[in-house]
Amino acid sequence: MMDAAVQHEQAPMKRERNIAPVRQPENWTPASWQAFPAVQQPTYLDPAELDLALDQLRELPPLVTSWEILALRGLLADAAEGRRFLLQGGDCAESFDDCTSPLISNRLKVMLQMSLVLTHGLKLPIVRVGRFAGQYAKPRSADSETRNEVTLPCYRGDIVNGPAFDAESRRADPRRLIKGHARSAMTMNFVRALIDGGFADLHHPEYWDLAWVAHSPLQSEYRQMVESIGNSLRFMETLAGSAVGEFQRVDFHTSHEALLLHYEEALTRQVPRHWGWFNLSTHFPWIGMRTADIGGAHVEYCRGIRNPIGVKVGVSTQPDQLLRLIDVLDPDNEPGRLTLIHRMGAKHVAKALPPLLSAVRASGRKVLWCCDPMHGNTESLGSGVKTRRFENIRDELDQAFDIHAAAGTRLGGVHLELTGENVTECMGGARDLTESDLTRAYKSSVDPRLNYEQSLELAMLIVRKRGDQGRLD
Ligand code: PEP
Ligand code: CO
Repeated sequence: MMDAAVQHEQAPMKRERNIAPVRQPENWTPASWQAFPAVQQPTYLDPAELDLALDQLRELPPLVTSWEILALRGLLADAAEGRRFLLQGGDCAESFDDCTSPLISNRLKVMLQMSLVLTHGLKLPIVRVGRFAGQYAKPRSADSETRNEVTLPCYRGDIVNGPAFDAESRRADPRRLIKGHARSAMTMNFVRALIDGGFADLHHPEYWDLAWVAHSPLQSEYRQMVESIGNSLRFMETLAGSAVGEFQRVDFHTSHEALLLHYEEALTRQVPRHWGWFNLSTHFPWIGMRTADIGGAHVEYCRGIRNPIGVKVGVSTQPDQLLRLIDVLDPDNEPGRLTLIHRMGAKHVAKALPPLLSAVRASGRKVLWCCDPMHGNTESLGSGVKTRRFENIRDELDQAFDIHAAAGTRLGGVHLELTGENVTECMGGARDLTESDLTRAYKSSVDPRLNYEQSLELAMLIVRKRGDQGRLD
C-alpha cells in the first residue's frame, strides 16, 4: 500500500531535465514549521473545525505535479544563466468572486502579449509564471482594523476571511481553505484547457487582443512586432516544410505567496518517482517580505520542499542575513532553486541593492535575480487611496538593470502586479492616468495593479533597456 500522502502521478512524455538528487534536509517534516514562530497567521477560534478542513484538504487531489515543478526549476536555472527571462505577474490577491472566465482569460492575454514583446525584443524564451490559482492569502500590517470605534480582525485574503467590515465576514473560517483549493483548481483547469486548446498559439496572437484597447497609443508598436514575428514564423515553417509545433503551445506556471502554512502543509506530498516532498498546490511558492525571518516558520517550511522558492528582499535586508537565508534554503547551491525578488522602491534601490548583489556574487551562490518594482513604490494619497506611480515603477526597473550590469550580476526576471481589466489603480502610463482617474475604475481590495497598457509599456521598456545594454551574457 502506498502512503496516503504519496500522490499518483503520470510521468510526462517529455524527459525530465536532469536535476541531480541532493538530499532531504535534516529534522524537517511538512509540519515542523509548527515549532517555529509563525507570523501573519489567522486565529481560528475552533480548532476542531480547522482540523476537519485540513483533513479534507489532505485527501483532495493536488493542483500541479512534481514533474512540472522540476521542469520549472530547470527553466529558472536557465533564466539565472541568461538563457531565459522570467515574467511573473498577476493580481496582488485573487478573490473568489474573480474566478470567472473573462477575468482569467484577460489576465492570460496580457501576460501572453507581454511575453511576445519580451521574446521578440530580448531574443530569449520567456518563463511565464502567474500570480494565480492560489494567491488568496495576504500579509497585513496590523492584525486588526478599527472603524468608527469598532475593532475587527483584519482581512487576510479570501482563503481566510471576507473583506466586508462585519464580524461574520472577518471571522477566520476554515471552510474557506477548501473553497480556496477548489477555486485554484478551477482557475488552473481553465488555464490549462485554454492553452491546450491553442489559445497560446503564436500563429494566432489575435486571440489575445483585449477589446477595450483597440485605440491604445501602444497598438501600432505592438502590431509591428506581431507582424514581424508572424513573418519569421512563416519563414521558418517554409524552411522546415511544416508547422513548428513548439510555437503552438507555451507553458504557464503558477505561483503564490506561501503564507498560510496550514494550507501549504496539507498540500505537501510525496510522489512515487521523485524523492523528497513537494508543495503540490503551486509550482513556485515565494516567501514574502514580512515572513522571511530566518528563525521563522515560513523559512522552516520552505527549506524542506523541492519546489523552486522565491524570496522577497527589501531595503531592510542585510547582506549577512541574506547569505544565511540562502544557506538555509539552498544549502547545496542547486540551479533553479532560489529566486531573489528585490523590491526596494525607486528612491532606495541605488543604495540598498548593490551590497546585496556583491555579497551574493562573492559567495559564489547561483540565484536568479528578479525585480519587483511594485511593492517598494506603494503610496497612500491624501484621500486614503493606495496607488503607485508608473514613473516610479519604471524608474526602479530601469535602475535595477543598470545596477546589475555594474555589479556583474544579471537581472533575469520581473515580478509585477497586473490585470487584464481596464482598471485605474496606478497613476501615469501611456494614458497618463491622474489622481482623479483613480476613482473611475479602482477595483483592487489590496494593492494597485498595472492595467493592460501600463503592463505592455513596461514590457517595451525592458526590451529597450536590454537592447541598449546588449545581451548581458
Ligand atoms: C506581495 O507580493 O503581494 C507582497 C505583499 O509583497 P512583499 O512581501 O514584497 O511586501
Ligand atoms: Co501586493
